[in-house]
Amino acid sequence: MCGIVGYIGQEPAAPILLDGLSKLEYRGYDSAGIAVFDGASIRMEKTVGRLRVLQELTQNGETMPGFCGIGHTRWATHGCPSDTNAHPHMNREHTIAVVHNGIIENYAKLKAALQKKGYEFVSETDTEVLAHLLTEYYRGDPIKAIEKVLSRVEGSYALGIMFLDHPHHIYAARKDSPLIVGFSGTGKFIASDVPAILKHTRTVYYMENEEIVSLSMEHIRFYNLDGEPLEKQPVTINWDIHAAEKGGFPHFMLKEIYEQPKAIRDTISPRIQGDDVALEELGLSDEQIRSIRKINIVACGSAYHAGVTGKYVLEGLARIPVEVDLASEFRYRDPILEADTLVIVISQSGETADSLAALREAKGRGAKVLGIVNVVGSSIAREADNVLYTWAGPEISVATTKAYSCQIAALYLLALKFAKVRGQIDPSDFSQMLQDLRNLPEQVEQLLGQKEQIQFFANRFLATEHVFFIGRGIDYAISLEASLKLKEISYIHSEAYAAGELKHGTISLIENGTLVVALATQENLYPKTISNIVEVKSRGAFVMALTNEDHKEMEHTADYVLYIPKTNRFFTNSLAIVPLQLFAYYISLGRGLDVDKPRNLAKSVTVE
Ligand code: M6R
Repeated sequence: MCGIVGYIGQEPAAPILLDGLSKLEYRGYDSAGIAVFDGASIRMEKTVGRLRVLQELTQNGETMPGFCGIGHTRWATHGCPSDTNAHPHMNREHTIAVVHNGIIENYAKLKAALQKKGYEFVSETDTEVLAHLLTEYYRGDPIKAIEKVLSRVEGSYALGIMFLDHPHHIYAARKDSPLIVGFSGTGKFIASDVPAILKHTRTVYYMENEEIVSLSMEHIRFYNLDGEPLEKQPVTINWDIHAAEKGGFPHFMLKEIYEQPKAIRDTISPRIQGDDVALEELGLSDEQIRSIRKINIVACGSAYHAGVTGKYVLEGLARIPVEVDLASEFRYRDPILEADTLVIVISQSGETADSLAALREAKGRGAKVLGIVNVVGSSIAREADNVLYTWAGPEISVATTKAYSCQIAALYLLALKFAKVRGQIDPSDFSQMLQDLRNLPEQVEQLLGQKEQIQFFANRFLATEHVFFIGRGIDYAISLEASLKLKEISYIHSEAYAAGELKHGTISLIENGTLVVALATQENLYPKTISNIVEVKSRGAFVMALTNEDHKEMEHTADYVLYIPKTNRFFTNSLAIVPLQLFAYYISLGRGLDVDKPRNLAKSVTVE
């Protein structure tokens, strides 16, 4: 999604803005722009394409002198990617400049009303409405004008605003789109996310919904929408700055795949204490855990796929019925939630608009909401009743890897805890499963050693047009994620199918040479999956199978076989997904694509 950076301080603003925007590139964007007060006017440069085009255009910011400015990377929603639609947007007099993340839902109505009053629009964006509306309400006091504008807009926004009349100030506001405010000894910042300003400061304020802030060299002042001052406490970010850098890897995705052993370890180790699972952060007493009658898991994309795995594991171990919903569906399907329903919202970013709306829907219906979230202090983390953090660290690549792995690890912990408290697991099985959990990070490391073999295999399929991933039970859940990973970064059409379902229609798409990736890690389903492999092979498919290390006989059935080390059948996802992440990575690399920033995608989807 779009990225915002703003700076006011003692150093030239433009290079800081450009550098900050480069740290937000991972969010996905199609154009970029900056506006800087140059001592007399607000100068603006914006362009479609990569940030490097803007860097060249401004000679890395040198052609835009000044100490106060705002910048933006745009991910198109209203109007195609173009120089004109890129942000900032200004009023006709060039006295007000605005950058915006989110969507102004009633922009058409506002635009028509402004046009009637003689305002001329140059772009197709919803954001331009804000620049003109600010002009309409501005009488010398920026905060009052912002308040009035925000009282008229519907939708979501994170805003950075400059007024020529107040040249050494930046104003910002947020609702349902993330925004932080930071300060160092030499300047003040606004940003959509921490990496943009981490180089300069670790001291930040998280802006809450419907808050306005004014920043100058001397002050940072927060207000509510009635213009009343607010007291806020800054927090210290404890991210390692190198965690947001590539650290010698060619891509963030590969780096993050390699960080999985540590990320999984960090997520599970502090929560396995002796022979028990300690999850105080759930805020649930044993009595409350015993009284849960149903769990609803709600999420989007890969987090949803983690939820599908969670369903199998929670139902299998704790014997609690689980429904899994895509957040965009859940929020509009009038879900039946009782007081003894636990709703789990899973999200890496903690800012996904549909997941956040689903959370609010669930809370509004009286359900208790648990967030499984990676970004500390994010909206979902703050609004959930309780949070089980995944300790994956910052994830930059658009395609999630380590955060997904931590989400399923967190779900294993939850399932084991619930199973024990509800008396559904034999104590010796419980102890063995804890040991299996502890072994996962080392086993993932072992799998990373297969990287060359996987690259070699991937290179054979660079020109393939269709891929099918098939599996049963948890293997089906793995297929969903493996398929998404491949298609989002390689642009190869790929589908995940429950292996037993293929013959009900989709098998007609299998022809000579079609690549089918068959997952067969579930012992109880192994013979069934073998039959499904035979079915596709006899229709000409080339089958790559992925199974447990003691199933060497798979080589008689499949054309190519990858093995995973031994673990409990509920945990195989954590191992099987690793070679398939590498497979997707090497296909994308071999096809010469932008692995970390695939077309049309954004890291954090903050619009509906
Ligand atoms: O930040 P979230 O976990 O809420 O994001 C959900 C999806 O947008 C995300 O998992 C997406 O599907 C990834 N690009 C997949 O790699």
